[in-house]
Amino acid sequence: MGLPEWDGELTSVRHDPETGAWFVIGVHSTRLGPASGGTRAMVYPGVEDAVADARRLAGAMTLKMAAAGLPMGGGKSVIALPAPRAEIDDATWRQILEIHAANLNLLGGNYTTGPDIGTNSADMDALRTLTPHVFGRTTAAGGPGSSAPMTALGVFAAIEAGVAEAGLDGVEGLRVLVQGLGAVGADVARLAAGAGAKLIVADVDPVRRSVVADAHGAEVIGTGEVLTRECDVLVPCATGGLLTPAAAGTVPCTVIAGAANNLLTDDAAAEVLRRRGIVYAPDFVANAGGAIHLVGREVIGWSAEHVADRTRAVGDTLTEVFADARTHGISTVEAAERVAARTLSGGPLR
Ligand code: NAI
Ligand code: PHE
Repeated sequence: MGLPEWDGELTSVRHDPETGAWFVIGVHSTRLGPASGGTRAMVYPGVEDAVADARRLAGAMTLKMAAAGLPMGGGKSVIALPAPRAEIDDATWRQILEIHAANLNLLGGNYTTGPDIGTNSADMDALRTLTPHVFGRTTAAGGPGSSAPMTALGVFAAIEAGVAEAGLDGVEGLRVLVQGLGAVGADVARLAAGAGAKLIVADVDPVRRSVVADAHGAEVIGTGEVLTRECDVLVPCATGGLLTPAAAGTVPCTVIAGAANNLLTDDAAAEVLRRRGIVYAPDFVANAGGAIHLVGREVIGWSAEHVADRTRAVGDTLTEVFADARTHGISTVEAAERVAARTLSGGPLR
């Protein structure tokens, strides 16, 4: 396999013939502290795609930690599964976790994992019996519990900051379209409905769609309509890569603020959004609540109340980012990268 160049520190790649899984860990940066980022377990077209995803997600974690002022670096694990997670039996999943834990142990604490797509707090409980390098166990197992509620709180703060930047008068009455009604998206939908938004929702999973629609009286649309349905705020909470430059050029909304990591395919998409006057809350700032929760509770020792305060401050960071982007005529992604770069080049943690 010919690997492309990367500005990160280390990529570990392992294949296990017995389970058929590939294990990739990308350690992008330990400049601010040991690297951290979740474990994504899903099916990939090929191992090259898994490596590329781990690396790009690890880079986003470096920016996330730095922009949130957390004393951690960026990393990410990808387990490229031989079949969808739901089709993997318990014994095979256990074997996969054992190999992942062995890989984490080899890194000796330079990288600590946590939950991401395809893994949850219960998986973190199981992993923690095999390695200490794990965040995000359930409260029953002595951990801080799911990162999703804080991620949702931060995303909602990002929505409010984006709405203010767009000159709109609060979330009440706005059409808020939430794509992906999982742990984070369902909670953002709840917060938006509570603030009086007119909810529009989409999910590939019919059960999740109807649970949220029934709870909040939301309008359900097809997943193929997410990029064409007019709304005030688009809230992507599914997987990344939704916004290509072409999609950014046509998406009919005023504000975009969501949880999905690596939502834009590239910087060109950010530039298209800037030119169209769409307020985009960079994902690595908007979705930092989960990292603030895990690192705040498990590394720094913050109380739950302080974690919530720091998470709400995601909105203040974004207000600064939006102003900086406006003043300098740059995309909000570039402005947010400047915030992270200040910390990474020795500036104080926020
Ligand atoms: P989840 O796996 O609980 O939920 C994802 C939801 O998206 C599921 O309901 C799934 O059916 C749906 N979905 C998948 N593909 C879809 C599509 N094409 N169209 C519509 N719906 C689709 O994941 P979770 O934890 O809610 O995370 C959501 C996103 O936020 C992920 O990209 C994750 O990486 C990111 N994120 C999550 C954090 C956390 O604390 N959980 C922290 C930071 C980012
Ligand atoms: N995977 C989540 C994220 O992308 C939560 C997480 C944060 C997991 C930090 C581990 C470490 O932010």
